[in-house]
Amino acid sequence: MANNTNLGAAKAAKNDEFYTQYADIQKEVNAYLEYNPDTFRDKTVLLPCDDPEWSNFTRFFAQNFERLGLKRLISTSYAVESKKYKNYQPTLFETSSAWYDVDKTRIKGKIFELTRDVNGNGHIDLDDLEWHYLEGDGDFRSKEVCKLRDEADIIVTNPPFSLFREFMEWINEVRKQFLVIGNINAIHYKEIFPLIRDNKMWLGSSYFNGGAAFFIADATLYDPDKMSNQKNAYFQNGQFLWRVNGVRWFTNLDHGRRHEALQLMTMKDNLRYGKNKTLRDRGYIHYDNYDAIDIPAVECIPSDYPGYMGVPDSLLDRYCPEQFEIIGLGAGDLAKEIGIVKNYRGRSDLAYTDPVSGKSSCPYSRIIIRKKQ
Ligand SMILES: C[S@@+](CC[C@H](N)C(=O)[O-])C[C@H]1O[C@@H](n2cnc3c(N)ncnc32)[C@H](O)[C@@H]1O
Repeated sequence: MANNTNLGAAKAAKNDEFYTQYADIQKEVNAYLEYNPDTFRDKTVLLPCDDPEWSNFTRFFAQNFERLGLKRLISTSYAVESKKYKNYQPTLFETSSAWYDVDKTRIKGKIFELTRDVNGNGHIDLDDLEWHYLEGDGDFRSKEVCKLRDEADIIVTNPPFSLFREFMEWINEVRKQFLVIGNINAIHYKEIFPLIRDNKMWLGSSYFNGGAAFFIADATLYDPDKMSNQKNAYFQNGQFLWRVNGVRWFTNLDHGRRHEALQLMTMKDNLRYGKNKTLRDRGYIHYDNYDAIDIPAVECIPSDYPGYMGVPDSLLDRYCPEQFEIIGLGAGDLAKEIGIVKNYRGRSDLAYTDPVSGKSSCPYSRIIIRKKQ
C-alpha cells in the first residue's frame, strides 16, 4: 500500500470512470452457476458501458466463455471524448491492430466480440476477441447499441451510476435478463421499486463487504488534501481502489440465496431473548398512520405476526419470496399508493409515537411486507 486517500462524495457522483474488480464479478457469477449450471448456456451476453482495455467484465466472460457455455459475447465501450477521460492511454491490444486510428479512438465507441476460436489453439478465450469501431460513440442509448441489446439474452455491467435509472429503463423496454451493479438507493425509484415488489428484479447473491464495494479508479484522482479515512481509498498491487458505499448487484437471474428463508423467533421470544435494544426498550409499535407495526431491524421480524410490518431496506439482502410478500414503500409517492395517510408533519411517510418518550417520529426508510402463511 503506497498511499491512502478518501475522495469526496461529490467527486464520486460526477465521475463514472471506476471499474469492477475481477474477484467481485467472479464471486457473483459463480453463485448463479452453483444454483443453475446452465444459467449462461447458449446465451448471448452483452456487456455495455464496458471498456475491455480497463474493465474486468470482458476479461472474466471471455476467459470463462467455454465454462459458461456461452454462444456469443459482445462488449461495447464508450468513446474517449464522450467519457471526458483526460488520462486515456490506448493499450497495445488497440494500437497493434491494423485498423487502429487515433482520431476514431477519440470519438467512436468500440465493439469487442467473441464467438469462435480465431487463433486455432482449440479454445475460445480472451485471445480470440475481435474488435472494431462502432459508427457512433458507443452510448448505450444509440441505435446500434440498442440493436445489440435486442440480440442479447443477458445484459451484464456496472453502468454509470449517474444514469442508472435510465439504464434500467433501457433494459426493461425489452424485458431482458440482466445482472448489473447499482446503488441500494435505487430501490426507492418509482421505476425500480415496483419491479422489486413484483419479483421481477431482486438483489444479487453476493454482498459487498459492509455493503461497500472497492472499485478500481483512475490513480490521478488521488488527492491527499481530501484524505479523511485511510481505509476508504488506497493502492493495492498497483491499482487505486476506491470505496463506494451502498453498492449492490441487481438482477432477474435466479440464485440460491434468495430461496433461503430467514430463521425467525416469535414476538414474545424476540422481546424476551432478542438482542435488539430498541425493540426491547419500546416493544413492537403500531404506526400512527398505517395499519402495520414497525420492525427496527431485520433480526426482529417475528415469525407469528400475520399483518403488515415496516422493515428496514436491508431486508432485501435476505429477502426470500417464498417467505414474504412485499406490499409497498413506507415513504414518498409510493407510500400514498398503499394508503399511508398524512402524518404529524403533513407527509405520507410512516410515523409512530414512541411509547417511552411520547414523541412522534418517522423511521428511516421502511418497506412494508407481510409474512406468507
Ligand atoms: C462505472 S463504469 C464501469 C465500467 C465497467 N463496466 C466496469 O464495471 O468495470 C461506467 C462506464 O460507463 C461509461 N459510460 C458513461 N456514460 C455512458 C453512456 N451514455 N453509454 C455508454 N457508456 C457510458 C463510462 O465511461 C464508464 O466507463
